[in-house]
Amino acid sequence: MQKLLITGASGFLGWNIARYIEKHHKDDWHIIGSYQHNPVNLTNVEAIQIDLTNTTALNTVFSQHKPDAVIHAAAASKPAFCEQHPQTAYAINVFSSLKIAELCKKASIPLIFTSTDLVFDGTNAPYKETDPTSAVSVYGKQKVEAEKGILELYSDALICRMPLMFGDAPAHANLFFSFVLNSLKAGKELKLFCDDIRVPVSGQVASQGLLHVLGKASGILHMGGDEQVTRYDFGLKIVEAFGFQNADIKPISMDDVDFLAHPSKDVAMDCGKARALGFHPPSLATQLNSLKYLVSK
Ligand SMILES: NC(=O)c1ccc[n+]([C@@H]2O[C@H](COP(=O)([O-])OP(=O)(O)OC[C@H]3O[C@@H](n4cnc5c(N)ncnc54)[C@H](OP(=O)(O)O)[C@@H]3O)[C@@H](O)[C@H]2O)c1
Repeated sequence: MQKLLITGASGFLGWNIARYIEKHHKDDWHIIGSYQHNPVNLTNVEAIQIDLTNTTALNTVFSQHKPDAVIHAAAASKPAFCEQHPQTAYAINVFSSLKIAELCKKASIPLIFTSTDLVFDGTNAPYKETDPTSAVSVYGKQKVEAEKGILELYSDALICRMPLMFGDAPAHANLFFSFVLNSLKAGKELKLFCDDIRVPVSGQVASQGLLHVLGKASGILHMGGDEQVTRYDFGLKIVEAFGFQNADIKPISMDDVDFLAHPSKDVAMDCGKARALGFHPPSLATQLNSLKYLVSK
């Protein structure tokens, strides 16, 4: 069995990758899953607590556990947090990402760095991997710096730009999808943006895609779905898939909100390169159908 180091195993994506492996690749991967503040309670994960910005501790993880591959999903992933705490965010988003790339290069093992569609400003979608980056937020700019630095250090690394993701999540996670679902369950009015275009995939589909491309590609890859939706469209799809009666969802514009982090409106990604590699996400309706159990969770 090979050893996979998942950084951020207590986060939304890392947790989903570990659960996907438990269901579909149990005999292929032994998972070493890192967390910082929120312990990982998954039986198939050998959990390790580490502040990834501590270089000595990071070196020790690699020398003790000797991973055969790494999916680096730990990040300061909330744009507003990065805007308010740029140095703390830089340490995990850029500094530790480059250290991980160095260690993966030294060990000659596959590395996936999870980046974001917010490396673009949203004025020229759909974006291909070859389009120039144009981040407008601290979060997006830090991801751009990490992407460039990682590929300069280790050209075999794979940068996977993730879209908006949704689905089941650890209890402490703070997701747009959970907010929508909880509001619908409580019968609350929802106001959702009708001018922010993304190509979402569920955490399970993203995990399937990441494991599919791990070790098979290098450079940059866009890992989104096929449907371009606004949060408002997506809210309506959730209502339809989960059968909520009398849902009260109203469209609002991003122009009417003051954001801490400058937002990018239309960051739909062209994902043709990932399709050519065999990543074919099901329709959003199908992905949402597989999550219907969350209505009673
Ligand atoms: N979620 C999305 O819709 C989305 C969209 C586009 C791109 N992405 C990217 O996808 C990746 C995964 O995102 P996510 O939603 O899973 O993020 P998340 O839920 O916020 O999880 C972040 C993870 O990073 C860990 N972490 C943060 N700082 C750390 C540090 N200094 N040392 C060690 N661990 C640290 C956290 O550990 P603790 O919780 O234990 O402290 C947690 O496990 C990120 O690269 C993100 O930028 C996400």
